[in-house]
Amino acid sequence: MVLHGPNLDRLGVREPEWYGSDTLDQINGEIRDLASGLGYGTKFFQTNLEGEMIDYIHDEGMSASGVVINAGAWTHTSFAIRDAVENIPGPVVEVHLSNVYAREKFRHQSVLEDIVTGKILGFGKESYLLAIRAIDAIHGRKKKTP
Ligand code: DQA
Repeated sequence: MVLHGPNLDRLGVREPEWYGSDTLDQINGEIRDLASGLGYGTKFFQTNLEGEMIDYIHDEGMSASGVVINAGAWTHTSFAIRDAVENIPGPVVEVHLSNVYAREKFRHQSVLEDIVTGKILGFGKESYLLAIRAIDAIHGRKKKTP
């Protein structure tokens, strides 16, 4: 499951120097192709509304074999998103397109980083693709464990 938070529907036109020139649909397409090559189905969700994201996590997140979340600015501010994410049982990867540590101070804080499995940032759309590979690696490791 791939979750995109606020303003990520604007990818392609929004600050391409930080976020690249691909649209969200293009990025989702690449994620879908990679995931399907690895044997996973994908569900995508983007919203600008915090409550909608929380409802979606409640409805869909509990059964996902892995969750990739770019919570956008909620990453830095939202304890409500944190509480919802904390209940997801599968591996969760926090993702950012940009290197938030090379940007304004308020972006250096994440309220998710200590409850997610791991985080990947700064590689543009590759951050998402690396996150899919990380989830796949976790499942691969489990399969090999006797
Ligand atoms: C972002 C970084 C956040 O600080 C910002 O609010 C975003 C996008 C990223 O992908 O680099 O909306 O999560």
